[in-house]
Amino acid sequence: MAEGLFFVLEGIDGCGKSTQAGMLEEKLKKENIPAVLTREPGGTAVGENIRDLLLDPGGTMGTCTEMLLYAAARAQLVQEVIQPALNQGKTVVCDRFVWSSLAYQGAGRGAADKKIYQLNQEVTKGLTPDLTFILDVDVEEARRRLEQKNATKGGDRLENMDMPFYRRVREKYLTFAQYNPVSVEVISSHEKPEAVHCQIWSKVREILPGRE
Ligand SMILES: Nc1ncnc2c1ncn2[C@@H]1O[C@H](COP(=O)(O)OP(=O)(O)OP(=O)(O)O)[C@@H](O)[C@H]1O
Ligand SMILES: [Mg+2]
Repeated sequence: MAEGLFFVLEGIDGCGKSTQAGMLEEKLKKENIPAVLTREPGGTAVGENIRDLLLDPGGTMGTCTEMLLYAAARAQLVQEVIQPALNQGKTVVCDRFVWSSLAYQGAGRGAADKKIYQLNQEVTKGLTPDLTFILDVDVEEARRRLEQKNATKGGDRLENMDMPFYRRVREKYLTFAQYNPVSVEVISSHEKPEAVHCQIWSKVREILPGRE
């Protein structure tokens, strides 16, 4: 059986990754394409515990600890969820992957790219997405969206939202796209969710087997 395709959604907090990952999974299922939706950090029992540690707003953590915890959650996710699904020919949609580590721990917190890259090669066993979508939105708009989301659902990350940090992360994603034009698509996430989804779907459809 042919390996399934692996799609990743990336971008700064509040850009719309989870919204688009959900819409893409729904569309794949509507088209009768077996699909698995998962997220980082998390997606496994161990990974969700690590997620709680990482996203605990009260916890302070060094960059090295943070980098290793993300990598540990990723190792488990690749082994337990992503690679088995791909082996079964399923399409995998993942909300964040290795580029989040390079953008956040690298550009955001100053860890060396080389170190992050080597660690992640190890934990992913070299698995790379077939296509990564970077949902690009300016930091101010992302903040507005998170403010709205927090007002309706409650949340605690906003007070920690450091704008220069997010600008560095956004720039890193855009640089990543420049150097990887074949495997990365930058999608403007300023449009309505449905319009963003249409752009994503048109790119996905181009590489789905037998659907070009
Ligand atoms: N294209 C869009 N236009 C306007 N609002 C949007 C758009 N996409 C998502 N939103 C809204 O913005 C908020 C953040 O979206 P979402 O949770 O999907 O982002 P995210 O990238 O997953 O964020 P996080 O990194 O915090 O998990 C949500 O309230 C969502 O409904
Ligand atoms: Mg999300």
